[in-house]
Amino acid sequence: MKRKSIFMAIGFMLVMVWAGPGPAAAQEGASITPRRLRCEYRENPLGIDETRPRLSWQLESPERGRKQTGYRILVAGSEAALEKNRGDLWDSGRIASDETIQIVYQGRPLLSRMLCFWKVMVWDGAGRPSAWSQPASFSMGLLQEEDWKAQWIGYDLPGQRKGRAPKVTLPYIGEVVWPFSKRYSPCPYLRKSFQVEKPVRRATVYATALGLYELHLNGARVGEDYFTPGWSDYNKRVYYQTYDVTALVRPGKENVMGAILADGWYAGNVGWLGQRVYGWALRLRAELVLEYEDGTTEVVATDGSWRAATGPIREADIQAGESYDARLEMPGWDQAGFDDGRWKSAAVTERIEAKVEAYPGIPVRRTGEIKPVKLSEPKPGVWVFNLGQNFAGRARLKVKGQAGDKVVLRFAEMLNPDGTIYTRNLRTARATDSYILKGGGEEVWEPRFTYHGFQYVEVAGYPGAPAADAVTGIVLHSDLPLTSSFESSNPLVNKLYGNIVWGQRSNYFEVPTDCPQRDERLGWTGDAQVFIRTAAYNMDVGAFFTKWMKDLEDGQFENGAFPRVAPQVAPGIAAGWGDAGIICPWTIYRVYGDTRIIEKHYAAMVRWIEFLEKRSPNYLSPPLGNEGDWLNVNAPTPKDLIATAYFGEDARLMAEMAKAIGKDDDAAKYRELFANIQKAFTARYVAADGKIAGDTQTAYLMALQFDLLPAEMRPAAAEHLIEKIQERDWRLSTGFLGAHLLLPTLTDVGQTDVAYRLLTETRYPSWGYSITQGATTTWERWDSYTKEHGFQNPIMNSFNHYAYGAVGEWMLGTLAGIDTDGPGFKRILIRPRPGGGLTYAQAGYDSIRGKIATHWWFEGNELRLEVALPANTSATVYVPAAQAKDVMESGRPAAQSPGIRFLRMDSGAAVFEVGSGSYAFVSKWKADQGQPSGAP
Ligand code: BGC
Repeated sequence: MKRKSIFMAIGFMLVMVWAGPGPAAAQEGASITPRRLRCEYRENPLGIDETRPRLSWQLESPERGRKQTGYRILVAGSEAALEKNRGDLWDSGRIASDETIQIVYQGRPLLSRMLCFWKVMVWDGAGRPSAWSQPASFSMGLLQEEDWKAQWIGYDLPGQRKGRAPKVTLPYIGEVVWPFSKRYSPCPYLRKSFQVEKPVRRATVYATALGLYELHLNGARVGEDYFTPGWSDYNKRVYYQTYDVTALVRPGKENVMGAILADGWYAGNVGWLGQRVYGWALRLRAELVLEYEDGTTEVVATDGSWRAATGPIREADIQAGESYDARLEMPGWDQAGFDDGRWKSAAVTERIEAKVEAYPGIPVRRTGEIKPVKLSEPKPGVWVFNLGQNFAGRARLKVKGQAGDKVVLRFAEMLNPDGTIYTRNLRTARATDSYILKGGGEEVWEPRFTYHGFQYVEVAGYPGAPAADAVTGIVLHSDLPLTSSFESSNPLVNKLYGNIVWGQRSNYFEVPTDCPQRDERLGWTGDAQVFIRTAAYNMDVGAFFTKWMKDLEDGQFENGAFPRVAPQVAPGIAAGWGDAGIICPWTIYRVYGDTRIIEKHYAAMVRWIEFLEKRSPNYLSPPLGNEGDWLNVNAPTPKDLIATAYFGEDARLMAEMAKAIGKDDDAAKYRELFANIQKAFTARYVAADGKIAGDTQTAYLMALQFDLLPAEMRPAAAEHLIEKIQERDWRLSTGFLGAHLLLPTLTDVGQTDVAYRLLTETRYPSWGYSITQGATTTWERWDSYTKEHGFQNPIMNSFNHYAYGAVGEWMLGTLAGIDTDGPGFKRILIRPRPGGGLTYAQAGYDSIRGKIATHWWFEGNELRLEVALPANTSATVYVPAAQAKDVMESGRPAAQSPGIRFLRMDSGAAVFEVGSGSYAFVSKWKADQGQPSGAP
């Protein structure tokens, strides 16, 4: 017996010795595995121009309390080197660190067109190494202008309009572009034939345009992106995309590169400003770099030798729509063997002013298809397809008929009472596509350079009666990964969540737009800032805002003010709008631990604060802009109060951001500025009884949420806030600026029950009201349409406006209880608030560090709460309970469960500290017990 155990002990020791950090042990011993490697927020990005890119990964482990204590990154110039574990560009060596995100590359200088392959291994809490991750890659773009060989080419048509469309002044409305003066030209087609003589190792194309481009190579469309090169201030910067086209090249044969150009934002309608806001001459710049097996390189670039013509696309405009005449198709135009003898020589522009940079965002792509749910014929020969969902995108048409038959498609969000489409709210956006048949069989067509915001498609001129599948909806938006999920026992709340996500899908379209349907679709900064926190729950918005912050900074005015719209096309400044320049980078920092966005825009943010300081003697701001609490319900908040409140909020966030990037002196300076604004605000706007000037819900919300009151005045202000809600019979009166503060503030002041009341309300005005009126997205107004009164004023009435969807932040962060505690979800706050009559809620959020999930439900006299956290994070978990010993976890008293530490009782909740992994809490807490008492 004894002997045996000694042998066993020796054996065990041997295993211990052998299980050292050798490669075999790495395979088996690993308790955490790095996965989902990303570079600059993207998986395997091509053609970046960030020379110190940031790398990140996620860690997975089903076990509790898993930590990373070190990592080693290898970056190699070839796959072969990486496979041999040779980091010839960068071998970080073993770095003692628990960081997994935003790790700055520190290897050899990255040069134009370099290919980089990388992988990572990590060490866990016990010092055990993981296996190497799967390899990932990124490639460098063309880092300086001299690296480009290609010229800017195009095809200018005789008679093409060069200036902006004329404007007229209308009564009550002011200056607008006269819709009938709009003119559209056919899309230019460009092509170049060339020989590829030798076997190709790698073929890469870099492409950009003034206008939109669609690139083709040997008959195939290059890439899956639409609306490239994206929208930027083309006077200052224009982006290019990079594609690997190795598989499309035909060695030893004639090859053909081609492109179609369209007006897009550059020359087409933008907002209500009409056409040619940036310029009129469409230009393409593209170059194909062929790297041959023998080590030589050849470049096929746009220049005067390219051939040009027009073809079947007779008109293409983002707002107006697209017209296609299939009889004018040029079969094989983008392939070898096509006779371009009658095409003209392309025009060449020597240089353009704008900087050419790698696209830092995520392009628009097709993300889904929608089948009609209903087909009707409200007038003879006029068919209406109902797609059942309002969204941004377009329709694919299937049709059979005679050559010359013309089918016209019009798009709308709503129907008139007689079943015809309602288009008045589109204002001057024509939103009409047309297709002329070539005849001879089934024809399938989808436009390329336009999009509409719609639920209904009207089809006229269709030969015969269309089948239900004659129209298919194509959903388009910036293809950001979806990161949230939400479900509860309340169908209204679930529908609201769905509507919010659809609102985001439809409006995260290159830039955060206000709406996708009318002649507007601008990057309204106020809408963007109120919604960004919700947006960052629903989608991975890091790259999207990296890009948009450049638009915002490019739009900054001489005096330091951030604009109301970015890209800036319609000058204007407003409190609550320009502040996006502070609030958006701060949110990206909070959610993704991104300090670079702060560093990059710091100088611009300082200029904005200086602008505010200069116009605010004694720390009080005069009104800024006309917006105020936009679209409030007869409860205007004084505009000077709003401006001062946002000034305070900006100073407060600026102090945090300065600290985050090590500018401690600045942090102190901005903290002092904030303290002064606080004092001035209270002295000027707050009465001794806690009443605040304007006496509106929004005034109290700003004062409370932006921390503008001395602590002792908060309870009185909170009481007044409740009174204001009660006065409206427990309904809201907030506009764009107040609405998103409403529920979070109510929870902060210990009134979550009231928050639930507003969330689940269905009378006007409320989130639920529009749902009872048939909404499938969030609307611009609380009553954009009512069954009783019909449509709101068509001058401004969108059925797909995300601003009020900003309540999503509370649904994920408070109702489901998933939030970050500090930057970047390293420490997580799990604090769900069961209530509102809900019997369960289940939500997930795929954070930059991995998936977080909560699920709470009532069962008899118990509340159950399941929590899942990614490896290498920790969380503070609040479990509603009267006392700590009421809480069990996985069958044990929670305080004794592995990986859990009881911290304290706090406002009716037992608070625990937990490491990563999954937990199942059970608490003696009844559904009718209400909210945990008191303030947080
Ligand atoms: C837009 C809004 C925007 C507002 C501000 C409207 O036309 O649609 O979303 O914030 O103008 O002026």
